Amino acid sequence: MYSFQKSTPVIIIDRKTASPEMGSQRSLSYAQEVYHCRRERKRTFVPWKVYTRFCRPTIENVQNGVAFCKEHGSDIIVAIGGGSAIDTSKAIAIIMTNPEFADVRSLEGASPTKHKAMPIVAVSTTSGTAAEVTINYVITDVEKHRKFVCADPHDIPVVAIVDSEMCASMPPKLCASTGMDALVHAIEGYITKGAWELTDMMHLKAIEIISRSLRDSVKGDKSGRENMALGQYIAGMGFSNVGLGIDHSMAHPLSAVYDIPHGTACAILLAPVLKFNAPATGERYREVARAMGVAGVDEMSQEEYRKAAIEAVAKLSADVGIPTKLSELGVQEKDIDFLAESALADACTPGNPRDVTKEEIAEIYRSIL
Ligand SMILES: [Fe+2]
Repeated sequence: MYSFQKSTPVIIIDRKTASPEMGSQRSLSYAQEVYHCRRERKRTFVPWKVYTRFCRPTIENVQNGVAFCKEHGSDIIVAIGGGSAIDTSKAIAIIMTNPEFADVRSLEGASPTKHKAMPIVAVSTTSGTAAEVTINYVITDVEKHRKFVCADPHDIPVVAIVDSEMCASMPPKLCASTGMDALVHAIEGYITKGAWELTDMMHLKAIEIISRSLRDSVKGDKSGRENMALGQYIAGMGFSNVGLGIDHSMAHPLSAVYDIPHGTACAILLAPVLKFNAPATGERYREVARAMGVAGVDEMSQEEYRKAAIEAVAKLSADVGIPTKLSELGVQEKDIDFLAESALADACTPGNPRDVTKEEIAEIYRSIL
C-alpha cells in the first residue's frame, strides 16, 4: 500500500487540458478533491505544485518535468489529461526513481529499470489511450523526428481514475480520434502474435462496447461517453499484456513528423492495415465483425467476413469524421521512405500478426496517400 500522508504532490497537466475550454478548473478541483480526501482528517496543508508548460511528451518536456519535481521535492504525481499528460508523467516518474535512465532515449523498448516509478495518480480526461492502466508510454524525439515506445511494468499508475464526467468537455474531434485509438487497441490486441484467451475476452468485449458507443459519444451523449470510458479501459487492460501491431508502428512516425493526433493516425491506417494482415489472422476477423454488430457472420465465407470486418471499421471511422486520405493531413510522398523505415523499427512491429518489410509498409502508406 502507498501512503499519501506525508507526500509533496505535483500535478502534471498539459497546456491543452489546462485551457479553460477543456474544463481545467473542474479537472484540478477533481484531482484536489481526490487527493485531499485522504488529508482532510488531519487538516494538513498540501503544498501543490503544477507542471503545465508542455503539450506533448517530448524528451525536453520530460527532462524539464524531472527538474521541476527535483526542485520542489515532489514525491507523488497527479497526472491529469489524456495520453500526453500521463505519458509525460510516466517517463518523469520512472527517471525520478531510476536516475541512471536520465537519458530519456535509453528507456526505449523494454526498459530495464530496477525500481518502481514515483507513484502516479492518473486522472484520465479522454477515452482512448488507456495510459492510466497500461505499462506503455510513447515519447516524441523532436530532434530525430520520431516517436519511441517504452514498455515498463514499473510505470503503471497506482491509482487510475476513469470517470466519464472528466471526459464531458471533450470536443467531437478529440472524442472521435481518441475513441478510434481505443478501437485500434482492441483490434490490434486481438490479432497480435501474443494474443491468448484471457486478452481475447477483453478485446472482443472492448470492440463490442466501442463499436456501439463511439458514434453517440462523439455526439456528446452521456451514456455513449460512459460506455467509451469503460470500453477504452478494457482495451487497455488487454493490449498492455500482449502488445499491438503495425497500425501503431505506422501511426507513430505520422504523429512525429506531421503532428497528426495519435488516434487520427491510427484510425486512418486501420482499414488498410487490416487488409494487409488478413491472410495471417485465421478466423479472427469473423469475431471482429460479430463484435462490431455485423449480422450473419456465421454464414459468411472467409473472404466475406474479412471484407465485412474491414468495411465495418471503415464505416465507423467515416461516421465519426476521420479522413480517408493521408494527403488530407499533409503527408507527402517524399517522406514515405523515412516513415516506413521508422515504422519498421518501431517496438510494436514484432507483434504484428504478419511479418512485414519496409517496402510493404511503404505500400500501405501509398495506398491511402
Ligand atoms: Fe494508441
